[in-house]
This record gives sequence, C-alpha cells and structure tokens, in this order.
Amino acid sequence: MDYIEIEGGVQLHGHVRIGGAKNAALPIIASLLLTTGETRLCNVPRVRDVFTFGQLLQALGANIRSDGSELVIDTSRIDRFEAPYELVKTMRASFLVLGPLLARYGKARVSLPGGCAIGARPVNFHLQGLEALGAHLELTQGYVSAYAGQLRGATITFPTPTVTGTENMLMAAVLAKGTTVIENAACEPEVVNLAEALARMGGRIIGAGSPRIAIEGVSDLEASVHDIIPDRIEAGTFLVAGAMTGGDVTVDRCRPQHLGTLLDHLRGIGAGLEVGADWVRVISVGRAQPLDIVTAPYPGFPTDMQAQMMALLTRADGRSVISETVFENRYMHAAELCRMGAKVDLEGSDAVITGVPRLHGAPVMATDLRASAGLILAGLAAEGLTTVSRVYHLDRGYEQIEVKLAALGAKIRRLP
Ligand code: EPU
Repeated sequence: MDYIEIEGGVQLHGHVRIGGAKNAALPIIASLLLTTGETRLCNVPRVRDVFTFGQLLQALGANIRSDGSELVIDTSRIDRFEAPYELVKTMRASFLVLGPLLARYGKARVSLPGGCAIGARPVNFHLQGLEALGAHLELTQGYVSAYAGQLRGATITFPTPTVTGTENMLMAAVLAKGTTVIENAACEPEVVNLAEALARMGGRIIGAGSPRIAIEGVSDLEASVHDIIPDRIEAGTFLVAGAMTGGDVTVDRCRPQHLGTLLDHLRGIGAGLEVGADWVRVISVGRAQPLDIVTAPYPGFPTDMQAQMMALLTRADGRSVISETVFENRYMHAAELCRMGAKVDLEGSDAVITGVPRLHGAPVMATDLRASAGLILAGLAAEGLTTVSRVYHLDRGYEQIEVKLAALGAKIRRLP
C-alpha cells in the first residue's frame, strides 16, 4: 500500500492548475443513463472515484473510451440495472444511478450504502423523494429494488438540503410526466453543473443553484457534450497549503465565485488574496489569526474543507472553534493532528483548537478523503518528516496531489 512522505517546513511558491470537480463529474456520468447515444465529457478529473463510477456504468452495459481528461461514454446498450454492494460500499455516490435508471428504464436495484467514516449518511430523503414521484420501493437483503411505470411530477421538500439527494431527484424528475418542484434543494455548484448538463440534453429545469428547483418533465433526452466545472475543493486545498506554509501560491483555472466563504475565511486569518476571473493568489503574511468556522451547505463553509482548515488553525495565534453541522463524525483527523503536536479538543460537534507555534512531523494515518488532505497540509507545515499512510483515500478525489505540490516546491514523494 502506498504512503506519502513529506519533509516539512518548505514555503510553497508558484502556480497550480485545478482539474475538474469529482463531485460534478459523478452525477453527470450517472445522468448519461437518461440518454441513448454517445456523450463527450471534458475536464474530467482522473481520480479513483471517477474510474470506479466508469466501471459501474460499464457493468450496466455502457461503453467508455478515455483520452486524457476527456471521456466518451456510449449508453446505447444499457441492459443491466443493478449497482452491487461491492461497488456501492467502496463509493456511496454509486447511489446516483438509482434516479436515472428508474426514470429511463422503470427499474433499478441498488445496494444501500450504509454508514462511512464521516457519519451515518442515510439515504432516506432520496427514497422518500422517489416515492413521491410514484416509484414503488422494496428494501430487501441490503438492497433497494425500485420500480415505476411513468414517474409523475410532485413537490418534494427536503428536511435538510442534500447534494446527491437533489441530484437523484433532478435525474428522476427530468423524464417524469408533469412538473416537479424540489424545495430546500442543495445549491452547490455541482448541482448547477448537473442541471446545465441535463438542460443541454433537452431537460427543462429552472432555479438550479437556489433552494427551489422546478423541473418540467420531457419525453426523451439527447446525448451531448459537457464540461465539468473546476474542483472548488481542490482549489481550496491548494490555497490553504499556500497560506499555511508561509508561501505565495496561485491556483489557476478555478472559479473564484465558488470559493466565496473560503476566501472570506482566508482573509479572516490574515492571508493576502488577489482574485482574478479564473484564478486566486494567496500570499501568506505570517502566523494565522485564529478564527471560528461553522460548516454549512453551500454557500456556507464547505464541510469538505473542514479538515484542511483545521490543519491550518492548529498553528494559529490563539483559540479557534470549528462547528461541524453537516456530518456528525467528521473529526477523525483531529487525533492524528494531535500526534503532530496540535491541541484539538472535541466537544460534541465542536472542535476547539488551541494554536501552537509549530507542529512536528510524525507517522499519521488517513481515514477519509478530506482528512488525508488535511494531514498532508499539516505535514507540509510541520518540522521534520511526516508519513501519511492509507493514501488510497486521497486518490479517490485528488489527481496527483503530490506531483502538484512538488511542482510548488514541496519536499513530498509517494512511496510503495
Ligand atoms: N442526509 C440524510 N438523509 C438523506 C441524505 C442526506 O439524513 O437521505 C443528511 C446527511 O447524513 C448529512 C446531510 O444530510 O448530514 C447532508 O448530506 P448530503 O446528502 O448533502 O451529502 P452527500 O450528497 O452524501 C455530498 C458530497 C460529499 C460532501 C457532501 C456535503 C458527492 C458525491 N458527495 O455528499 O463529498 O461532503 O455532499 O457537501 O457529491 C467528498 O467529496 O469528500 C465528500 C464527502
């Protein structure tokens, strides 16, 4: 199993190019199940979750060719309708095939995901939404079996916004008869990117990016060409890396408008920022000021940046509090950071971080994708040698992060 070794204490300098967003690519690949024909996807990140999702589509009968960051996916011959446990347990996003399979083929059998390292993560809102559209669901042997004749438009009100839940409803409703309204919808840019892709296929969707989305069902959709938006979490991770190593880093090919709350928080810790049309430059100005952060659905501070920001705040000049409101158990990185000399006390859903002047390198273990990123950042800023094991988590969502960091001057390498 690979691990990553970092000799910390080097200031990062230079430019880094941001790839496509994993969490936009996955639902857009799922949405191709709604069409028959060949679709070209551009700016697709080469990360493990995308490869796994490709395998799932191939198992359903799709044909996939890849050429660098482009994927050509042909969904003319879908003849299986099951997402097996073996795949769903490695990647919860596999649940995204449920809505489109049901809408297009009237049947689907998808393994229930179960809990994961960051929380219980139930899928009840997805199931209630599909039932409201007229699906008949049976839960047996850990699978949900779904059947529908023609889905029918309905009003679906989510108790709290759910990103993949909103995406599953969009994909189910786009071929339903009549109008569907999703209330309290997730407003994430990845939801908007999916809605744009569906619109390009012929779907009729109004309000994506707001809490109220209206979808007027159409009878069929056409294969097309789609661009995946830049990954705002990858961009944010490199900005935090620049800020916490005392460096000067520009992230290119990003969408600064998707980074609003993070940029506010970087200003809050005292970092200098320059923002262009599709780039952001962060210039560190000494030791970070402490900061209180509350994670929240978009446009709030993203839970997917919480571990990285915690790593930064471990060295701030004072006491910070992070309140994690999206996932109940997303602090597995805290204990690992403490092994590097950080002072983090967990109090329910709050993490109280007392800044220390320096971290020291240590062997640490990654527990999930974003926790891995947080530990790498801590290693970059620490004195001495850090090894991060279980980096397969990292490979799910970051494309060659160690290569990009090394190009910024980091002393980092992957070892088998
Ligand atoms: N929730 C329910 N029932 C549901 C659905 C959600 O109770 O049926 C709860 C969740 O347990 C959670 C909250 O609602 O407390 C929000 O979860 P959400 O459904 O929005 O999360 P998700 O769709 O499963 C996506 C991303 C995550 C990201 C979250 C929050 C994808 C493929 N995954 O997950 O990304 O953290 O939204 O922004 O889009 C990552 O990339 O590392 C990652 C975990």
